[in-house]
Amino acid sequence: MLSYRHAFHAGNHADVLKHSVLMLVLDYITQKDKPFLYVDTHSGAGMYDLHNGWADKNREYETGIGRIWQQPSQNWPEGMQTYLRAIRDLNSDGDLREYPGSPWLAQFMLREQDKARLFELHRNEYQNLNALFSRYKQIHTEERDGFQALSAVLPPVERRAVILIDPSYEVKADYQNVVQAVKTAHKKFATGVYLIWYPVVNRKWATKLERDFTDSGMRNILLAELAIRADAEEAGMTASGMIVINPPWQLADSLKVVLPFLQKELAEEGGGFRLEQLVAE
Ligand SMILES: C[S@@+](CC[C@H](N)C(=O)[O-])C[C@H]1O[C@@H](n2cnc3c(N)ncnc32)[C@H](O)[C@@H]1O
Repeated sequence: MLSYRHAFHAGNHADVLKHSVLMLVLDYITQKDKPFLYVDTHSGAGMYDLHNGWADKNREYETGIGRIWQQPSQNWPEGMQTYLRAIRDLNSDGDLREYPGSPWLAQFMLREQDKARLFELHRNEYQNLNALFSRYKQIHTEERDGFQALSAVLPPVERRAVILIDPSYEVKADYQNVVQAVKTAHKKFATGVYLIWYPVVNRKWATKLERDFTDSGMRNILLAELAIRADAEEAGMTASGMIVINPPWQLADSLKVVLPFLQKELAEEGGGFRLEQLVAE
């Protein structure tokens, strides 16, 4: 029984990091005219109403996207311009009412020649996702286990793909499932850009995940992590990160500017960031 609802967390610091990296990657991928496939294994609902329902309970967005989106755009790093312009387009009257999920952000970047495959297992979330994209011919949604579906859609006919794997980690098995799913997918399609999000709720679990990727045999792996606070024993997410396999070559340089900006705007005393090439090309 799945109980996680992304709406509680929409627009928080982890979403800002995840979606900044995603949009940077999509920016680089769309510099070439050749088509690509976007795959989102854990899509969520696709769009979140910040003023009603779950998002309004803890208002996590206030200490995430809420701190950044209305700053003058000259303050934003070059590498965050596309992402933040998308948020402004959505909330054009100046009131932050809606926050997009990863599928909507990807859709914002798709061109005529590109396609998307979106997977979501939770019935209600899936219904919202499907309703959001039902009129888009290029976008195909499925109520299905994203870990299992991933290998079935690879290798893509487009021969280029950006794959976001964003589990909720509400079950601890997700830490193993994510590594296994990526290894299997990578065997079928070694040149895809794989983006794997992870939380730091317990540093030991995050370190184990990182080690599993480092030891996986896959090459060219970059890690970008943003800590809002120092690691702590108490419950709660202190940091989150993205593991990127086959990152576009410009990504690390852009993140050298984006991560310090996010630390300055979002982190408390004791926070920080990491940007590390875990495995060389
Ligand atoms: C962190 S949320 C996704 C957020 C979304 N990627 C975004 O950035 O806007 C994780 C989602 O995965 C769904 N989920 C959990 N297990 C799944 C599975 N095995 N396959 C597909 N979806 C799953 C949950 O219902 C939840 O909506």
